[in-house]
Amino acid sequence: MKGVHFLISTLAILASATFLVTASDPSPLQDFCVALNDIKSAGGYFGANAVFVNGKFCKDPKLVNANDFFFSGLQNPRNTQNPVGSNVTTVNVDQIAGLNTLGISLTRIDFAPNGLNPH
Ligand SMILES: *[C@@H]1O[C@H](CO)[C@@H](O)[C@H](O)[C@H]1NC(C)=O
Repeated sequence: MKGVHFLISTLAILASATFLVTASDPSPLQDFCVALNDIKSAGGYFGANAVFVNGKFCKDPKLVNANDFFFSGLQNPRNTQNPVGSNVTTVNVDQIAGLNTLGISLTRIDFAPNGLNPH
């Protein structure tokens, strides 16, 4: 009988623990925040309502266009004639303003034979 009570109470604890561990990320407050380097480039549109996320001001969503999410040139090999024999091409929020807050960046690294990545 003691064993049955132990089993039932153990199952009850496990069942309640299952409900305690359910969790999820909070919903993002906005879908995107196309970065502006300073609020003056927003044309003063935002005024006191400026949105500042991840160290960048957000562009007025009505002014966002496809070019804010575009970068070209990663298909081109870079010059690796330097002491380390490699060349790093980064694509992050500084190259694609629309990447701000999206948690995405990419890099192309060109290596010469025996080249190194010093980073
Ligand atoms: C990387 O390549 C670009 C263009 O090919 C060149 O302008 C730049 O100086 C190179 N960087 C290094 C560190 O060699």
